Amino acid sequence: MISQPADLDAVRDSYDRVADNYVDMVRTTGIGDIRTHPWFRAVMDVFADAVGGLGPVLDVGCGPGTVTAYLAERGLDVTGVDLSPRMIEHARRLYPDCEFRVGSSTELELAEASWGGLLGWWSLFNLPRDVLPKVLSSFARALKPQGQLMIATHVGDGDVERTEAYGGVPVRWTTHLWRPEQLTELLEQAGLKPTAELRLPADGPVGPTVVLVARRP
Ligand SMILES: C[S@@+](CC[C@H](N)C(=O)[O-])C[C@H]1O[C@@H](n2cnc3c(N)ncnc32)[C@H](O)[C@@H]1O
Repeated sequence: MISQPADLDAVRDSYDRVADNYVDMVRTTGIGDIRTHPWFRAVMDVFADAVGGLGPVLDVGCGPGTVTAYLAERGLDVTGVDLSPRMIEHARRLYPDCEFRVGSSTELELAEASWGGLLGWWSLFNLPRDVLPKVLSSFARALKPQGQLMIATHVGDGDVERTEAYGGVPVRWTTHLWRPEQLTELLEQAGLKPTAELRLPADGPVGPTVVLVARRP
């Protein structure tokens, strides 16, 4: 069992509050839509090719379902899950043919060796530092052999306390910044083998970023 983060309710409420603006941002600016970002789209296409034949894919922290739908369009058997019921309402409205459910990455009870691919696409940075390794271990166990986990997150040191986001909406969450090598170490400790790493600089559309891919041996 993974102990629930103390701030989980606050994080859920915060994403419920920003969900409408987040959807608006994706629609009007393309930020948050991998189709508008060549590097993100490229890594997502490689991921889709790698895991498509292996088994189902779970998009953990799917938000309004943009990536879930992208992968479904490519023929993958993909489900989106998110902490925020409001995000999932949007996902179901926008992509009625896709499967979505509400849940936290900390309480998914994923069956051993049952998933071809898992995604933590901009959705793991709110997990407390002592919780993330446990979540990654649960992901590692849930992957089939050769199954892949791909994560994208903000790079840096320290923790940023957010009090507003996405157009001045009041929120209460912590963004935990990670250095790529710290995350690689966590993935290895979870039993995964790193397969790829993409770093994007601070002047990109979302600030310093790392995308990491790792597979279950
Ligand atoms: C920045 S959004 C990214 C959403 C989506 N992956 C995308 O790329 O559009 C972060 C998402 O992570 C979700 N999230 C945060 N903590 C979570 C948790 N413990 N379990 C599941 N989802 C979580 C939020 O509700 C939110 O939808």
